[in-house]
Amino acid sequence: MASEQYRSRIPGFYRLSLESRRQTLQKQLGLLPETLSAFLPEEGLDLSHADRMVENALGVFGLPLGVAVNFLVDDIPVVVPMAVEEPSIIAACSNVARLVGLSGGFRTEVDPPHMIGQLQLVRVLDTDRALHAIETHREEIIAEVNRFCPNMIARGGGCLDVKARVLPPIKDGYHGSLDNDEVMIAIDVILHCGDAMGANIVNTALEGVAPKIEELTGARVSLRILSNLADRRLARAFCEVPYRYLATDASKDSGRDIALAVVGAYRFAARDVYRACTHNKGILNGIDALAIATGNDWRAIEAGAHAYAAREGRYTSLTRYSLDDAKQVLCASIELPIAAGVVGGSTRAHPSVKAALALIGPFGESARSLARLMASVGLAQNMSALWALVSEGIQRGHLELHRRKNGAGA
Ligand code: MEV
Repeated sequence: MASEQYRSRIPGFYRLSLESRRQTLQKQLGLLPETLSAFLPEEGLDLSHADRMVENALGVFGLPLGVAVNFLVDDIPVVVPMAVEEPSIIAACSNVARLVGLSGGFRTEVDPPHMIGQLQLVRVLDTDRALHAIETHREEIIAEVNRFCPNMIARGGGCLDVKARVLPPIKDGYHGSLDNDEVMIAIDVILHCGDAMGANIVNTALEGVAPKIEELTGARVSLRILSNLADRRLARAFCEVPYRYLATDASKDSGRDIALAVVGAYRFAARDVYRACTHNKGILNGIDALAIATGNDWRAIEAGAHAYAAREGRYTSLTRYSLDDAKQVLCASIELPIAAGVVGGSTRAHPSVKAALALIGPFGESARSLARLMASVGLAQNMSALWALVSEGIQRGHLELHRRKNGAGA
């Protein structure tokens, strides 16, 4: 593919009026007119749907829906819908996507959609009996879990494994007689969730299997809930940007100097929790915006990302950067859990969500493809933030957009 000419590359898109943007996008991507209409306030989520989605509904809440252009992910051009209120996120993401697109685009990898559900076993009178029961009745338990997710089984998913872990005690000064002081066992139930995020499937199956676990172990099942640390469902993205693209008019530094400063910015986040938190927030600026547009539970993705960032006992960066002087490129990568789905949740009821999934074409067709795109967007967002931070800072872009928002120079 001639990398300057791919379909999501739309030079000057931001300069067009809102209406011209819609027409350009429709033509460029060959979309049905109704796809983009679903983003109009009058065509979006209606009151009757809203009333069925949550309790005590009063109305619906608006957010700007924009698109990041220029993305090329695994050789597939894609325009990325982003629902977000913060100025310059979409512009910054599109800008880095353009540079990455010129250098071959993003490459991704994704694990199968395996989620972990947890059963908390308390009042364990005989630890060995409980552990032995889980181990020896593993197949029976898996079959019982599967009885509660027939649709997932029909789609090739279902329970894959069941494992028990005795949890270490904690020293929090508590001396009561509640379960805290007793043996506590976590039973991890691993489920293949197909194209769903998995929360409903996992929680239903856990609640279904709990009586069987109590019967086998003689203990009591307390919590039955999925874990948002979806670390069996990791997505990874990689990209390279030639040094020469990183030099800016505003700075006398060479492209390599800037690339080196970006590596330094990553290393700051890798070494310091205060910086890592903000660094990862920038990654999630992009991922959340796409998650919201596609009707996904961004709180779950956030929780998983932050817990994964602390998996080694110290909170650190979700991305990594290095220089390749032989190729004269800045290399970047990201790895994080992404529990996102393209079925279930609000994907059926919300017209704008359906439109967002249609807009991203093949990336909206499976949970794993959507995770690939989310990882790429997270990496682009992070690189754009670091690039701005090591060169002119982020305020100029922010202020320019604020100025436009308030009518000046619109
Ligand atoms: C602001 O929403 C996000 C940044 O703070 C991220 C970062 O510092 O890397 C710019």
